[in-house]
Amino acid sequence: MDFARLIDARRSTRAFSDRPIEAGKVARLFEAARWSPSCANRQPWRFVAVSKDDPARAALEDAIDAGNGWARRAPLLVVSGGSGTDLLAVETRDYLLHDAGLALMSLLYRAFDVGLIAHPMAGWKEAPLRAALSLPDDFRPIAVTAIGYPGNPADLDEAVRKKDEKPPTRRPIGDVAFAGRWGVPLPAVLPGPPERYFETPIPIRFSDIDAMGHVNNALTLTLLEQGRMAFYAEVVGVRRIEEIDFVIAESSCRYKAPILLHDTVRLRLHVTDVSRSAFRFRYLLFDPDDGRVFTEAETVQVAYDYAAGRPRPVSPGFLEKVRAYTEG
Ligand SMILES: Cc1cc2nc3c(=O)[nH]c(=O)nc-3n(C[C@H](O)[C@H](O)[C@H](O)COP(=O)(O)O)c2cc1C
Repeated sequence: MDFARLIDARRSTRAFSDRPIEAGKVARLFEAARWSPSCANRQPWRFVAVSKDDPARAALEDAIDAGNGWARRAPLLVVSGGSGTDLLAVETRDYLLHDAGLALMSLLYRAFDVGLIAHPMAGWKEAPLRAALSLPDDFRPIAVTAIGYPGNPADLDEAVRKKDEKPPTRRPIGDVAFAGRWGVPLPAVLPGPPERYFETPIPIRFSDIDAMGHVNNALTLTLLEQGRMAFYAEVVGVRRIEEIDFVIAESSCRYKAPILLHDTVRLRLHVTDVSRSAFRFRYLLFDPDDGRVFTEAETVQVAYDYAAGRPRPVSPGFLEKVRAYTEG
C-alpha cells in the first residue's frame, strides 16, 4: 500500500473477526519489526506472540483490563517490550523502550499493509502478565497489541462501538512541531489538493462486459490507459506514440463497485509524488450522476529514454504543463 494511504488507514479500532491469521502474514509482521532502526543497532525489542490455541492464552487474557475485553476476540495478542540485558543509555537517555516502540510501529504499519488491524494497549496488569508468559526479570513489557482481521462493528458493545465511530483527532502541527526553537509553531504546509483535476469520460462498450455482467477487472488498466492518453493529449500536448516518454513501473487498483454496461463512467486523474525520474498518477473511476466510486487506482510512471534504453529525469516541460494537476 502507498505509504501516505497507510498512514491514513491505520486506526486502533476494536472489532476483530475470528478468522485466523495465516502464519506467513504473522511472520511478515515480525520481519518488519526486525528491520527497525535502533540505537547502536542493539535491537532491544522482544515480542511474545500468543494465539488462541496457546496454553498461556487464557492467563494472558485474564491480565488484560476489563475495559479492553474486546481484545480477547483477536486471534493474536502480542506482548512487546525491551530486553534489559540490551539496555543502552546515552548520558541519561534510555533508548530501550524508545527502540521497542519504533519496532512496534513498524509492526503496526505492516499489519495494516497486509489487511489486518492492530490495536496496542496499555490497559493490562504486569504481574499476572509476567506470570502468564514466564517473562524474565530483565524484560520490560510495554504494550500488548491485539491483531486480527477486521470484524463486524455490530458485534461490539454499544459503548465500545461508539469509541470506534468517533472521528480520529490530533493536535495541530504547530502544537507538536516547532521551527528553529522551542515554542515557535512549524507552519502547517501539508500538501493540499491539486488546483485542478483532469477529468475525461470513459465510454463503456458492450464488449467490455464479461460473463459476470460487469467490466472485467483485467480491463480496468486499459480504462486507466485511455484516461492517461487523454491527459497526455489534452494537457501535455502529446499526440503521437513516439512522443510518449515513460514506462509504467507499477499499477494498483482497489475495486469498490462493479461497472455495469449502463453506468456513466468518468475518470479523474491527478499527479503526485514527483521524484527525479518517476511520478505517480492517482485515478478515480466514478459515476458523475450519483458520485459512486467504481475504482481507486494508482500507476507509477518512470520517465524513460527509449533510444538509450534507460530511465531519465522527468522533463521540466512536462512538470510545467501538469503543475495545476499536481498534489502538494
Ligand atoms: C502505548 C499505547 C497504549 C494504548 N492503550 C490502549 C488501551 O489500553 N485501550 C484502548 O482501547 N486503546 C489503547 N490505545 C489506543 C489509543 O487510544 C489510540 O492509539 C489513540 O486514541 C489514537 O487513535 P488511533 O490509533 O486510531 O489513531 C493505546 C495506544 C498506545 C500507543
